[in-house]
Amino acid sequence: TYVVIASFYETLITGINGQDGAYLAQNLIQKNFKIFGILRRGSTPKNERLLKLKIHNKIEYLRCDLTEHQTLQYYIEKIKPNYIYNLAAQSFVQYSFENPFNTFKVNFEAVLNILETLRKTNLKKCKFYQASTSEMFGNVVKNNNKLINLNNRFEPVSPYAVSKLFSHHLVKLYRDSYNLYASTGILFNHESPLRGNEFVTKKIVENLVNQKFKNGPVLQLGNIDAARDWGHAKDYVESMVKIMEQKKPDDYIIASGKLHSVREFFLIVAKYLDFQPKFIGKGFNEICIDQISKKVLMKISKRYYRDNELFNLKGDSSIARKKLKWKPKYTFKKMVKEMIDTEIDQ
Ligand code: GDD
Repeated sequence: TYVVIASFYETLITGINGQDGAYLAQNLIQKNFKIFGILRRGSTPKNERLLKLKIHNKIEYLRCDLTEHQTLQYYIEKIKPNYIYNLAAQSFVQYSFENPFNTFKVNFEAVLNILETLRKTNLKKCKFYQASTSEMFGNVVKNNNKLINLNNRFEPVSPYAVSKLFSHHLVKLYRDSYNLYASTGILFNHESPLRGNEFVTKKIVENLVNQKFKNGPVLQLGNIDAARDWGHAKDYVESMVKIMEQKKPDDYIIASGKLHSVREFFLIVAKYLDFQPKFIGKGFNEICIDQISKKVLMKISKRYYRDNELFNLKGDSSIARKKLKWKPKYTFKKMVKEMIDTEIDQ
């Protein structure tokens, strides 16, 4: 007699070509999972991050708009996945102020769509992960010695954060009402060489490397005294996997617990590239010059200021560290260095 041992689990990832989707796919492929990735409809498939990680041909692609209920239900019923990770989102906070409709459509309707499908098709064995975010807390903690934990209230201050909070509550509703396995990871900022260049870390790295080696244009930034709790995306996708390994569904905060300002991030990158940065002036007139070449490296632009800003977004991940035995491998410095070195090599 033969014993058939399943060598992989069917896993569906939405937003598979995003920073987190790509690293998660890589992580799970190494663990022998079978990956299905949802890509937006369009003439050419957008899978450049999967190409970079050289995993593009290890994934089965499904073309679907996540807000189309019937198509999504068809795929889910066909695959009967063991896991669904919902990482697709309109994830740029600033853009959400300009286009709240689109932000809500993707960030809320897609979640409702998946959860409804799971409920209707009675796919109880399927575990669902929702990408929640630290943005949902807003400025709830004012004292910068304090870390944000699950007992804090949610006080979203952007259309993006409101849409994510809607979905966060929806997950809990489906978990409690229909007994679905639906968990969330409330992730604080996480960066990597795969980060999109509209986000501040990648924007700074890409621009300063271009200024250094290709005579690129001056960097324009918004509020450089804003600060964030920045971890590495590779460590954070590992926490998602661990969340899904738990017997019971739950919500977890994933964070580094350390705060760094945009100014500090900029200085580390500039110094690593052998510039001698010096800030001059104040407010909107502040600039940064390189003391060696006397060139202006950075100037402030009102355009990149937010209608509402977050000041103390620093998370307490002690429960995740204890219960999930999650431990990040990257330090802040190591992450920044990897981002710069990769940018130089490109
Ligand atoms: N993007 C950007 N561009 N941000 C700037 C700039 C600029 O030129 N100048 C200053 N900043 C400041 C922003 O005001 C913000 O305070 C901070 O840099 C970080 O901005 P982003 O990198 O755009 O990320 P985010 O914190 O708004 O959101 C990211 O993290 C969240 C997790 O907490 C996104 O990944 C979200 O999707 C995610 O939920």
